[in-house]
Amino acid sequence: MTGTENCFFENVRLSEDSDSVVIIDQTLLPGKEVYLKLKTPEEFYRAINTLQVRGAPAIGICAGFALAVIARGFSLSSEEEFFSQLRGVKEYLNSARPTAVNLSRALDLVEKAALSAAGSGVSEILEAMLKESRLIQLEDAEMCRKISEYGLSLVKNGYGILTHCNAGPLATSRYGTGLGTLFLGKERGYEFHVYSDETRPLLQGARITAYELNRAGIDVTVICDNMASIVMKQGKINACFVGCDRVAANGDTANKIGTSGAAVLAKHYNIPFYVFCPSSTIDFNCATGNEIVIEERSGEEIGSLYFEEPVVPKGVKCYNPSFDVTDNELITAIVTERGICKAPYSESLAALFCK
Ligand code: MRU
Repeated sequence: MTGTENCFFENVRLSEDSDSVVIIDQTLLPGKEVYLKLKTPEEFYRAINTLQVRGAPAIGICAGFALAVIARGFSLSSEEEFFSQLRGVKEYLNSARPTAVNLSRALDLVEKAALSAAGSGVSEILEAMLKESRLIQLEDAEMCRKISEYGLSLVKNGYGILTHCNAGPLATSRYGTGLGTLFLGKERGYEFHVYSDETRPLLQGARITAYELNRAGIDVTVICDNMASIVMKQGKINACFVGCDRVAANGDTANKIGTSGAAVLAKHYNIPFYVFCPSSTIDFNCATGNEIVIEERSGEEIGSLYFEEPVVPKGVKCYNPSFDVTDNELITAIVTERGICKAPYSESLAALFCK
C-alpha cells in the first residue's frame, strides 16, 4: 500500500502518562522500524546526539517534551531548587547538537512557560511545561502544512526535483518542510520525479528521504552526492528543494553538509534553489551565516560506519563537518509558513516575522 498517510509517522510522541517520550530510531531506518522510550536526561542527550531523532524541527519537538518529562522527576523541596535543576538539564540537552536552532528555541520556550507559572506550585509549573511542549509540536505540523501549500505555487506537474538530506515527516511532524510540497502535491494528483542526494556520510537522503517518498508512492531515484551535476546538466532537474537547520537574519542558511555545493551547481545550471524554512528555524540573533556554529562529528562516520571494512587507511585523518552554510545569493527563495521571501532576505524575512 502506498499513499501519503503511509509515511506520516508518529516519530516523536509524548507517552499517555507523560512520563516518557517515544521516538522512532532513525539510525536504523530503512531496515528496521524500532521505537525507543526515552526518560532520562542521558537517554535524550544520546538520542539527539547520535541522530536517533534528527531533523531540526523534530529535534526541537523532542527536546521540548524532554524538558517537560525530566522535570517531573526533580526533587520538589522548593521552586528555587526546581528551577536550578531545570537550568542544568536544559544546558545539558542544549549541548547535544549545536547547529539546529530549533533545539535551543524549544528548550527556551519550555523553560519560559515554567517561569511564567512560577509561584503557583510545582504541579502548575509542570502542567505549563507540558502544555508548551505539545504546542511546539502542533505549531510545527501547522507550519509544515502552510509551507507545503506555498511550495506548490512554485512547481508544475511533472517537475524533476533534487533534494538533499531529509526534510520530510520524520524530520518534522507530518508533511515536512523541504518534502512537504511533494507529499501535498501527491495528494492533489501531481507526479514528481525526485532525485535524492544520498547525503554522505550519514545517508539521510538514501535511507530516509527515499524511504518516505517511496512509501508515499512518489517516484524517487537515489544518486550519490557527486552525481548532482550530471543530472542537472542532463535537464532532469527543474528545482532544488532543501530544508534548513538555522537561517541567519540575512538569509544565509545552514543545512546538511553538501547543501551549499548543490546550490552552487544549481546557480551554474540556472535551476531555482528553494529553502523551506519554518520560522522556528530562523535565528534573528545571527546576523549572517558566519556566526552559525557548525557541528563537527567523528571521522568514523566517513571511514567505517556504513562499510563492512574501513574504507580509509588506518591512521589517516577524516574531517567531518556536519553542516555547511549556503550564501543567501545562491538561494532563489526562502519558503516560510507566512509566505515566500526573496532577496534581500534581511528585509523580506524581517517584514514577515519582526513586525
Ligand atoms: O544531521 P541531520 O540529519 O539532523 O540534518 C538534517 C538536515 O540537514 C535537514 O535538512 C534539516 O534539519 C531540515 S529538517 C526539516
